[in-house]
Amino acid sequence: MKKIINVALPKGRLGEKVYDLFERAGFPCPSIKEPNRKLVFENAEVGVRYFWVKPSDVAIYVERGAADIGVAGKDILLEYTPDVYELLDLQMGKCWMAVAAKAGFQDDRNRTLTVATKFANIAKQHYFAQGRDVDIVHLNGSIELAPILGLSDVIVDIVETGATLKENKLEVVEKFVDISARLIANKSSFQFNREKIEEIRAGLAKQTEK
Ligand code: PRP
Repeated sequence: MKKIINVALPKGRLGEKVYDLFERAGFPCPSIKEPNRKLVFENAEVGVRYFWVKPSDVAIYVERGAADIGVAGKDILLEYTPDVYELLDLQMGKCWMAVAAKAGFQDDRNRTLTVATKFANIAKQHYFAQGRDVDIVHLNGSIELAPILGLSDVIVDIVETGATLKENKLEVVEKFVDISARLIANKSSFQFNREKIEEIRAGLAKQTEK
């Protein structure tokens, strides 16, 4: 019987584009497009089983081997540093990490800077490298509210189109990391299923080069 590779896909708009890439790469699973709430979809003929996972959880499934491979944002990989192989930049879900603040914000380096973010480790490393004292306020979403309400001086967050910043009258102070979706693999699955995972990686790479 053909070995089935378990693939964790990030649920949501990016995930649908990622699935389309797998389909074009030769690993279709038509049932995934049916309008229902199912989370697991298998096509034994091409040897793949897909499941929809919350985007920030993909790396956990892959690191623990519940998925052999998956697609996670570089932001998540930098923040949580899961012990996985990063096999390919899928060239989608492109955005960047930025520091932003209210228009006209001036940093007083004699004071501790208060930073609101979902990405506490990324923010800590960024400011540690600058030797800047920071107080990190770890939030789970709507980060842009923090400087508006005086909860923080600045935010460290992902910017894609810039619309959220603009509509909340915030400005980019500093851009510092480019982010995109990455194909990741569980380390031992990669050893045991190298041929099949390489076949998937090569198929996806061919599509991203187009
Ligand atoms: C992300 C990010 C920004 C926004 C950036 O939030 O945290 O708020 O998208 O996108 P833009 O530059 O295209 O406006 P998300 O939509 O994930 O929601 P959240 O605030 O609940 O985290």
